Amino acid sequence: MLHLLAPQTADGILKLKEQLAGDSRAHKIDLGVGVYKDEGGATPIMRSIKAAEQRLWQAEDTKTYTSLPGDPAYLDAMRRLILGSDVAESRVAAIATPGGTGAVRQGFELLQMARPGARVFVTDSTWTNHLSILAHLGIEAVPFRYYDPATHAVDTDGMLADLAQLEAGDAVLLHGCCHNPTGADPDPEGWRALIEVMNARGAVPVIDLAYQGFGDGIDADAAATRAIADGCAQVLIAASCSKNFGIYRERTGILMAIMQDAGLRAQAQGALTHLNRQSYSFPPDHGARLVTMVLDDPALRADWQAELEGMRARMMSLRTDLAQALAEASGSDRFAYLTHHRGMFSRIGASPGQVDRLRDEHAIYMVGDGRINIAGLNARDIPALTRAMLDVGL
Ligand code: LMR
Repeated sequence: MLHLLAPQTADGILKLKEQLAGDSRAHKIDLGVGVYKDEGGATPIMRSIKAAEQRLWQAEDTKTYTSLPGDPAYLDAMRRLILGSDVAESRVAAIATPGGTGAVRQGFELLQMARPGARVFVTDSTWTNHLSILAHLGIEAVPFRYYDPATHAVDTDGMLADLAQLEAGDAVLLHGCCHNPTGADPDPEGWRALIEVMNARGAVPVIDLAYQGFGDGIDADAAATRAIADGCAQVLIAASCSKNFGIYRERTGILMAIMQDAGLRAQAQGALTHLNRQSYSFPPDHGARLVTMVLDDPALRADWQAELEGMRARMMSLRTDLAQALAEASGSDRFAYLTHHRGMFSRIGASPGQVDRLRDEHAIYMVGDGRINIAGLNARDIPALTRAMLDVGL
């Protein structure tokens, strides 16, 4: 009966990797998949992670199972990294997950367990895999206005007008910082209004936090998540260590459920632990252990923060340099939005036809919706990208 399986369409982001590999042009530029690259085009292992790996190899004397929700030290270190001291520990249930995607998937499953038929409101647009996972689980995704292509910023009025349609028990999927794919985040007032509307309508926020440290800094990037966790009775947070610890293939993430009191926390913890057991039993531990070692050792942590800050600063200067090159070449300031966006991504307003031309005529690869990965750029490629963007009419 397996011949009955329907063919699946390839993920648009991952398809780019294959297309790029088949392109023999030496000057090709990869602005596709969201992976950080340094000036030489490498995605290096962070120094602190390498040091932790060395220590772990020396010290680890068993590979027996950890606990079903994940190593408590990891869950605790991540809770503190993400929530600081703003949210009482007694409110937080958590599981380790295989990557941020695993956390997102488990979070959606939890919503479905709690309330079959719950809808998930999603920013228009959002990470394509959010929509794909929701569709796979049979959960209705309801897009709400978010990004205004004319201003390249968040359409706060449109967003709030659409969220007035929320019903009690619906969920709202938000990006904690560095919105993927647009690069545009709400301003503090926008976040406050979001908290108000979700509370007024009885909706549950689900926050995807995959880029903490890539926008304005480790604490600044968690500020909106902390405000929501503080201001709403029940919140889900799906966080990833792939980018900020550079451990993509280790699949290291966490799902937290913030509840209003310790009794409900215990109930949520039971459901989360059950989800781990029925999905894959014990979660992967290697990446989680490295993250814990880095966060709990003052010297490793300081080095990690310094390296992460260097990555963040480099992305910001690539943004500034690209915006400046475009301003000079075009004689206009219409590309200033690049410096207002945060994180790895910006949506540059390219139509599908322009995306195709950029690839076919200029060997520049980006996602079909015109998303570029700033961290895929380097200083040498900025003139070529500038010429190409103007050549296709951006
Ligand atoms: C991206 O958006 O490019 C990354 O999150 C990688 C992925 O898995 O899609």
